[in-house]
Amino acid sequence: MTESTTTRLAQRVKLKDAHLVTKMAEIAETLDDVIKLGRGDPDLATPDHIIKAGQDALANGGTHYTHALGIAPLRQAIADNIRAHGGADYAIDEIVVTPGGQHAMFMIALALLDPGDEMLVPCPGYNPYAQAAEMAGAQVVQVQMTMETNFTLTAEMIREKITPKSKILVLINPNNPTGTVTPPDEVERIARLAIEHDLIVISDEIYARLVYGNQRIQPVASLPGMRERTITLSGFSKAYAMTGWRIGYFAGPRELILPMSEINHAFAISVAAVSQHAALAALTGDQDCVEDMRRIYDERRLALIKGFQEMGIPYAEPQGAFYVYADVSVTGLPASLFCERLLSEGRVMIYPGRIYGDHTDDYARVSLTQSVPRIREAIERMKSVVHTIRQEQKVPAA
Ligand SMILES: Cc1ncc(COP(=O)(O)O)c(C=O)c1O
Repeated sequence: MTESTTTRLAQRVKLKDAHLVTKMAEIAETLDDVIKLGRGDPDLATPDHIIKAGQDALANGGTHYTHALGIAPLRQAIADNIRAHGGADYAIDEIVVTPGGQHAMFMIALALLDPGDEMLVPCPGYNPYAQAAEMAGAQVVQVQMTMETNFTLTAEMIREKITPKSKILVLINPNNPTGTVTPPDEVERIARLAIEHDLIVISDEIYARLVYGNQRIQPVASLPGMRERTITLSGFSKAYAMTGWRIGYFAGPRELILPMSEINHAFAISVAAVSQHAALAALTGDQDCVEDMRRIYDERRLALIKGFQEMGIPYAEPQGAFYVYADVSVTGLPASLFCERLLSEGRVMIYPGRIYGDHTDDYARVSLTQSVPRIREAIERMKSVVHTIRQEQKVPAA
């Protein structure tokens, strides 16, 4: 793009981070047999019974707009599912089905944030939250997490960043990109802090079904005093491998949800009917598929961290989602450069933590979105690139 065309863009358009991913995608296109551990898009297929429900919906006239909030049986199934997992009680007019959880972030930000308001976001964290707040003209306040707390949020970290302008706190649990879990007792402390400072909490629980070992996710909205100030955001992309169906949802107290649903209607009218029927089958059908996928990610997680241990690369203990966040700077290169070299020399794609707002350029996120043999192959390629880099570091400059 020339300078004259970019100056026509609105000031809210930020180009700064997008190019890192775009650049890597461009390099990958020139290479054969790249092991893609970048995007958070499961390689696993949507389970058959869900696909079948989508096909049946198409055959039976599911080709129209639906109710703006989503078809009633789906909203009922979402409410039942939230309750079954220890979440709050929601009526079906307190749930909005959206074209993906990501879309929901923008609806929520546009409905709740005025210019001057501040939104606290975990950092590193899923960056569209910050983009949504900026688009609404609000200020993003990053709450920086470190390896000291295994990259999980604590109430104390958040407290330090609260100002009279703070309005929303985003909690992503398990977190992307770090794959870490904020434990239930800390979630309770965070909830009490939100009440003390009258914050609205966006509780992103999209990875809540994917946790490992004895980890447990405490839904925020069911804690005392939290239902009225929490928007629960989730979706089907991760637990049911349904990224391409573009369907998610948010739930919250009626007085907040109704205005948000109007904005959602203005942007999308309704979610594709076919995806809604498939999502209904996902929630009401056999849940073994979720457990099967969780077990697959768990095996991949163990295979990957074994490789990091062999290479002497430290990582945050992965407790949920399907990511491992590793300190690749021990190789001697900043993470962004390491990722570029790993791609061009090792044909393995992973993403630098900077994409997720990490202030350091030390960490990279590896997605567990390939089979164990491919992950093992990726580790071997990584070892070879790390070896080359370490050799170079020893060579004195000419
Ligand atoms: C933390 C988190 N929330 C929400 C989403 C949005 O997912 P989708 O729009 O596919 O529902 C993602 C996607 O990667 C995510 O990582």
